Amino acid sequence: MYTLARQLLFKLSPETSHELTIDLVGAGGRLGLNGLLCKAPASLPVKLMGLEFANPVGLAAGLDKNGDAIDGFAQLGFGFVEIGTVTPRPQPGNPKPRLFRLPEAEAIINRMGFNNLGVDHLLARVQAAKYQGVLGINIGKNFDTPVERAVDDYLLCLDKVYAHASYVTVNVSSPNTPGLRSLQFGDSLKQLLEALRLRQEDLTREHGKRVPLAIKIAPDMSDEETVEVARALVEAGMDAVIATNTTLGREGVQGLEFGDEAGGLSGAPVRDKSTHIVEVLAAELAGRLPIIAVGGITEGKHAGEKIAAGASLVQIYSGFIYRGPALIREAVDAIAGLPRKG
Ligand SMILES: Cc1cc2nc3c(=O)[nH]c(=O)nc-3n(C[C@H](O)[C@H](O)[C@H](O)COP(=O)(O)O)c2cc1C
Repeated sequence: MYTLARQLLFKLSPETSHELTIDLVGAGGRLGLNGLLCKAPASLPVKLMGLEFANPVGLAAGLDKNGDAIDGFAQLGFGFVEIGTVTPRPQPGNPKPRLFRLPEAEAIINRMGFNNLGVDHLLARVQAAKYQGVLGINIGKNFDTPVERAVDDYLLCLDKVYAHASYVTVNVSSPNTPGLRSLQFGDSLKQLLEALRLRQEDLTREHGKRVPLAIKIAPDMSDEETVEVARALVEAGMDAVIATNTTLGREGVQGLEFGDEAGGLSGAPVRDKSTHIVEVLAAELAGRLPIIAVGGITEGKHAGEKIAAGASLVQIYSGFIYRGPALIREAVDAIAGLPRKG
């Protein structure tokens, strides 16, 4: 069925087809129809960060930026759903066109630039959703907030989403907001993490619940830089790391139509880079912090590779665009078939 839907969706511009997908998934979710359209994945619950995930395959951030289709995506079989990136104030993002499909490479290039309706809209959507499972809310900064003041935007978003999120993801790795990725390194990272941790403590007292904090990182880091990030996350008492966001590299898409568009590249070409980051993180972290792996899962077996590399959970974006909901089931099956750890 998705093959047919894909043929129709791929005739539209990527952004129109994106909007239509959100509308359809959202409408199906409100009517409770999505579960009828696709076979549910096997039950494979995972306990992590004090949360119970229905299965280890989640929706990655950026597809449902405003939380408009939470119930719909959950009904398609995702074991958890991450919405956002959301910023304190609404913003339009970069000029269009800013989203490109590269089907020969099972890839996407985007320079959306955190287009979103702002944190208050997102919270209204979360409150309207019926979904009871694990909901991640991914937070970022407005494009016109100077990077030296980025921490203010993250804290503002954290304050607002805290009571409504199962976990919060701090996105310091989008390539489309100038300066954002500099927050992944050195003192900028340490200061940001310290501010987040202190606020998390205050909010834990205020709300009587501790909401885990995950940091989402880029794939474009050396092994030394990755190890440094891992150490900083442990030192700061963060709860998880999400690896990875899109890449600035263009390996695998050179010479293809849209291959040299500016922005972040996702899908099959980022797979190995992303899995390598997971391996480096896993070696350094040695289980002290869980890893959520994302990047280039286009077949079930790639999800298995991410878990074998040291991740506890995976997320999917581009693979879902190319393969539809069947990929969720395939990924769950591949993970279920792995030898048990420990
Ligand atoms: C069009 C598009 C928009 C994205 N927007 C976000 C975002 O707002 N926040 C974020 O953390 N990641 C965002 N991502 C990155 C994905 O969540 C994911 O980390 C990346 O695409 C790699 O996974 P994939 O190969 O399965 O797509 C976006 C990706 C795409 C393709």
